[in-house]
Amino acid sequence: MTEQSLHTVFNPKVHGAWHLHQLTKDLKSVEYFLLASSVSGVLGSMEQSNYSAGCTFLDTLAEYRRKQGLPAISFQMGAIRGAGYLDRNRIASKMVKIRGYRTLHIEEILAMMEKFFQRQLEFGDYHPVIMGANQNWNAFIGSRDGSRFTQLIHEDVDSSGSGGASVKLSPEEKEKKIKEELASILFLSIDNIATEEPMVNFGIDSLMSVELVNWIKKEFNVKTTQMDILSGMSVKDLMNLIEATERGETVQIAGPATGHHH
Ligand SMILES: NC(=O)c1ccc[n+]([C@@H]2O[C@H](COP(=O)([O-])OP(=O)(O)OC[C@H]3O[C@@H](n4cnc5c(N)ncnc54)[C@H](OP(=O)(O)O)[C@@H]3O)[C@@H](O)[C@H]2O)c1
Repeated sequence: MTEQSLHTVFNPKVHGAWHLHQLTKDLKSVEYFLLASSVSGVLGSMEQSNYSAGCTFLDTLAEYRRKQGLPAISFQMGAIRGAGYLDRNRIASKMVKIRGYRTLHIEEILAMMEKFFQRQLEFGDYHPVIMGANQNWNAFIGSRDGSRFTQLIHEDVDSSGSGGASVKLSPEEKEKKIKEELASILFLSIDNIATEEPMVNFGIDSLMSVELVNWIKKEFNVKTTQMDILSGMSVKDLMNLIEATERGETVQIAGPATGHHH
């Protein structure tokens, strides 16, 4: 990273926040001081250490203000949809998705902010740095050296998803659900996904396949591997596999592009 690109991103965050702090610290009428931070400060960012550093400064400023009895919340947001930079930028949003950043809708973010403010009013004392994100820890850790965060994988798998097996879907519902997930992973419209075509043909890569394998396990309680996906499994093959598992059959996935069971 050049010094210039460090400053381009770091300075507006740091100087902007610091000026606001300086100009308002003696004003008794200031009830809230919200700093728009990001999970990148804590989780790191491969190409944007300038951004991560800027966010860490905001978090530290929030702590500093709180120690002086001044209002402050540094809100470490995850990826946002429905508004903002990522929502406008397809390539960036695809990259963050691959790295395990699921989105929260702007309305969810605003509802969270409102809760923080309420808590601040009710309790007075609160932690000034708060994270609100919808993280896919498996994909996140798979995309980097995430050894610091591995304990979160279990929580992620255990705490979300319907566990699928308990709710039996019709074949049409299954097909729709799988296509929706695939479309969301690939940033494609659902109409572009043909049921009988190998999923690799739509551009699924190894990181995305990890995300899909985890989703299949969570949603349908069916075990697949990255190889199954990458060697040519189609949506149809996957549906067959799920249904065979539901019928209690022992299923073996055959070689490339078939996914047939015995
Ligand atoms: N979008 C996300 O997924 C996400 C996730 C986590 C955290 N955040 C944080 O949320 C905040 C808003 O993000 P966003 O996605 O809403 O961004 P955005 O839509 O791109 O808006 C950025 C805003 O910052 C202003 N700005 C940009 N460069 C500036 C500079 N050098 N000096 C002064 N102002 C500048 C822009 O002003 P102009 O309109 O005049 O250009 C614009 O109002 C950011 O602090 C970001 O770090 C966003």
